[in-house]
Order: sequence, then structure tokens, then C-alpha cells
Amino acid sequence: MENILEASGLTKRFHGLVAVHDVSVQLRRGEILGLIGPNGAGKTTLVDMVNGTLEPNAGDLVFEGRSVRGLPAYRRAHLGIGRTFQIMKPFPGMSVLENASIGALFGTNGGERSIGRAREQARECLAFVGLGRRIAQRADALGGPDRKRLELARALAMRPRLLLLDEVMAGLNHVEIEEVIEDIKKVRDQGISILVIEHVMKAITSLSDRVFVLHHGEKIVEGSCGEVLRDPRVVEAYLGRRRR
Ligand SMILES: Nc1ncnc2c1ncn2[C@@H]1O[C@H](COP(=O)(O)OP(=O)(O)O)[C@@H](O)[C@H]1O
Ligand SMILES: [Mg+2]
Repeated sequence: MENILEASGLTKRFHGLVAVHDVSVQLRRGEILGLIGPNGAGKTTLVDMVNGTLEPNAGDLVFEGRSVRGLPAYRRAHLGIGRTFQIMKPFPGMSVLENASIGALFGTNGGERSIGRAREQARECLAFVGLGRRIAQRADALGGPDRKRLELARALAMRPRLLLLDEVMAGLNHVEIEEVIEDIKKVRDQGISILVIEHVMKAITSLSDRVFVLHHGEKIVEGSCGEVLRDPRVVEAYLGRRRR
């Protein structure tokens, strides 16, 4: 199967701290790849390097056969890389619809040129995530779960071919989590390749074709969900070493 994304030897340092160290990973076209790891493992930093929010100190990143290293985030968005942010910062003075329209205007292939069509695309994506009734509201009036939904709708409005999801289920209840899992399955059925970071294990196990684990910035394990979650190194990363 063809790889849509190939990261090799990615490293990111913040002053003395190595947040991501020599990580290589491939994402196949049409696949959902899960990324797990304890807080501070480097998951968000890795996503930041893939979409261009952060430039790596070393390593290369090939998207659909071409290196995107050094390209700014907006150019990578034009190429088809969309993402959500773990810390949601919607444009506060703007409506939910306007916020999602920004995704459509700055998305794949330079985005939708017509404001009318961008709004239409945004409206569709908002309805898809269950925000259809809130489009006229100001984005800063939304509660936490609805902000998460808006993040997803804005990213989908970009019409990405690769979607990076950074903890879109954090703070959602069980019913909401089930809904988002179903939404993400439908997104994949449209042919979009997805990297999903999630602490909600139910989501990782029901969505991921493969999973990899970051711990202290390094990839420690990669494989099927079953293999990875049973791996003693993963258990130790989450629970600590058993005392003897
Ligand atoms: N902009 C930054 N400046 C300095 N340190 C950072 C910055 N971003 C992240 N870090 C540090 O890098 C490490 C990895 O963080 P992060 O990628 O956010 O982890 P995760 O998403 O897995 O919780 C943490 O120790 C974090 O404090
Ligand atoms: Mg994070």
C-alpha cells in the first residue's frame, strides 16, 4: 500500500529538552494510525512538525511523495494536510459558521475561492459534526465539547487528504465519544487518511488500523492495537515499573 506520509528521523529540541527524538513513522493512504503516549511524550510536538507549526531540528517529512520540510503551515494546508488543535482557540468575535468557513477558505488547493461556497462547505461540515443548529452563535459562547466539534468541522472544511486529530475527544462524555468515533469512521470512508491522538482507549481500539507509542519523545512500539496494548514497554510507560 502507498504511504501518504513518511516521517524519518524527526527530532525537535526546546532549549535543553528533546521533545521528539529521531522518530520515523509511515502512514498508509486510507489508514487510521493511532498515536498514544503519556502526557508530555511529544505527541502534539510531532503533529506540529507534520503540519508545519514547528520546524524539526532534524529529519525529513515526505507527503504524497514530496518533501514538505521547510514549507510553512499554510502551504502544507494547501497540499492537503489538515489538523485540529488540542487547545482550541476559535476566533472569538466570529460566528461558528465564520470560524468553520476559515477552514474552507484556507484549505486544500489554496482553499475555496468563493465566500458563498466556503460557507456552504462549512455548513455541511458543521451539520456533519452535529453543530448544525449553532452556526449563527458566536464561537466563544460554545462550551468545551462544542468547541471540539468546531475544531473537527473547521479541519474537515479544509477538505484534507491527511487529517491530524489531536485529542478531539478529551472532555467528551461516553455518548459524545461514540458519536465522534462514528464521525471519524465516516471521514475515513471518504478516503481521508487519519492520524489520531487519543487518551480514550476505546477510540484508539475501535478506530486504529495500527498504533504507535511515544514515550519521552521516542517511538517505543508500533503494531496492531492488540500487540501494542499488551506490550510490557507500553504498560510500563503508562503505569510505571512494577516494584519487586
Ligand atoms: N513550545 C514549547 N517550548 C518548550 N517546551 C515545550 C514546548 N512544547 C512542548 N514542550 C515540551 O515538550 C514535551 C512534549 O510536549 P507535547 O508534545 O505537548 O506532549 P504530548 O502532546 O504528548 O502531551 C513536554 O515536555 C513539553 O513540556
Ligand atoms: Mg498533546
